[in-house]
Amino acid sequence: MTTDATPASVTVEEVPAADTIPLRGAVLRPGRPAAIDGDDDPATFHLAARTAAGQVVGVVRFHPAPCPWRPEVQAPWQLRGMATDPAVRGTGAGRALVVEGLTRVAVRGGDLVWCDARVAAAGFYERMGFTVVTGEYDKPGIGPHLGMLKHLVPLTPR
Ligand SMILES: CC(C)(COP(=O)(O)OP(=O)(O)OC[C@H]1O[C@@H](n2cnc3c(N)ncnc32)[C@H](O)[C@@H]1OP(=O)(O)O)[C@@H](O)C(=O)NCCC(=O)NCCS
Repeated sequence: MTTDATPASVTVEEVPAADTIPLRGAVLRPGRPAAIDGDDDPATFHLAARTAAGQVVGVVRFHPAPCPWRPEVQAPWQLRGMATDPAVRGTGAGRALVVEGLTRVAVRGGDLVWCDARVAAAGFYERMGFTVVTGEYDKPGIGPHLGMLKHLVPLTPR
């Protein structure tokens, strides 16, 4: 992948699932279908980080889903499909996506976001305020993961 991105030059916006599929597939799911169950559910939302030229250099999706490790939480959401273009990593695109996503989840009344974090990405999620709440577990064909979550203050009453 090539990009014309420069640090902090991205704009994050909500997009249809289809706009996120190419980068998600290339980064996270080579050799596997890039679509994920629930991509087109009405409650699911997808974010893309674009350069000034319109190139998608980062993607993520959020959808309501029970948290495996905090079943008592009332309005949990799952983060999935987090990927940035290798050419822009470390320049803030991932942060911009997560920050925007957490705000949008809180606006929708969510009180927790959780994810199956690839071990190699756990440090990124920790920088975003997530906490590791499990030991390592394997996802067949992908590798070791850690359960991570972040509590939110809902911005819309339930
Ligand atoms: C993980 C990933 C999304 C991070 O995206 P990014 O665009 O590099 O993130 P940012 O540049 O916004 O980084 C934000 C902060 O996290 C840090 N960071 C980024 N990736 C990190 C990592 N793998 N481990 C530790 N810290 C990391 C950055 O240094 C930065 O730190 P700062 O707060 O001091 O500025 C990206 O590396 C990626 O797509 N990886 C491959 C796919 C993947 O593993 N996705 C997650 C699946 S669970």
